[in-house]
Amino acid sequence: MRRPLVAGNWKMNGSKESLVSLMQSIAVGCDHFKTSNMELVVFPPFVYLEQAEKHLTGTCVAWGAQDLCSESNGAYTGEISATMLNDFHCRYVIVGHSERRHIFGETDQQIATKFNAALKSNLRPILCVGETNEQREKGLTDSIIMRQLESVFSKLPAASDFDKIVVAYEPVWAIGTGKTATPDQVQEVHTLIRNQLKKYNVELASKARIIYGGSVNSGNAHQLCHLSDVDGVLVGGASLDANQFIEIGKLCK
Ligand code: PGA
Repeated sequence: MRRPLVAGNWKMNGSKESLVSLMQSIAVGCDHFKTSNMELVVFPPFVYLEQAEKHLTGTCVAWGAQDLCSESNGAYTGEISATMLNDFHCRYVIVGHSERRHIFGETDQQIATKFNAALKSNLRPILCVGETNEQREKGLTDSIIMRQLESVFSKLPAASDFDKIVVAYEPVWAIGTGKTATPDQVQEVHTLIRNQLKKYNVELASKARIIYGGSVNSGNAHQLCHLSDVDGVLVGGASLDANQFIEIGKLCK
């Protein structure tokens, strides 16, 4: 049984004060998930990971980082390594978010090395994949997703901890736009991802979680979370509101 995952990507938002208050409210609100199988994770900006460790340890909310460097240490000004994330007891790390791919020009190759660096350090990577609107209109959705998966999973060591792996399908046109993919569109791509993972490794396909992201909110979470190949959601904007994030968690239980 794959454990449902509800993840909140806070991106470059908030301040020390506002994010500590958000962490505290989510920690209080998630008390009723204690007996459930649901996993709740938040992704504050790097500089607030210390606050996450301080305020979320012992609660049922885990935390992670929005990115990492593929190198473990050295002369890489401005970068943060997996070892450093482990120092703050991060459980997860997002890899290849579309904002990293499209705004900062990250390549499939760089994303693959980050993914492996995360796994090697025992962090759970959430690999984001997804097509742009233009690619969807040209009928390129499947080939884009398959290319993004291929660069990471063709190099995956056979003995990896497959249950630590998460793939997030995030259509670029649905991120921060209020335009959620339809349940049919989501199910179709999630099935494609699951079938593709099977080609790399059958155990990987059955253990890896595939979550959906892109304008998820408390109005659409229930429908999306209960599709057969959807194991949870990656929430951006709506995760900055504790009540809404908790509500999404309840709807995905
Ligand atoms: P959104 O962001 O929920 O604000 O669309 C999702 C994401 O970027 O992970």
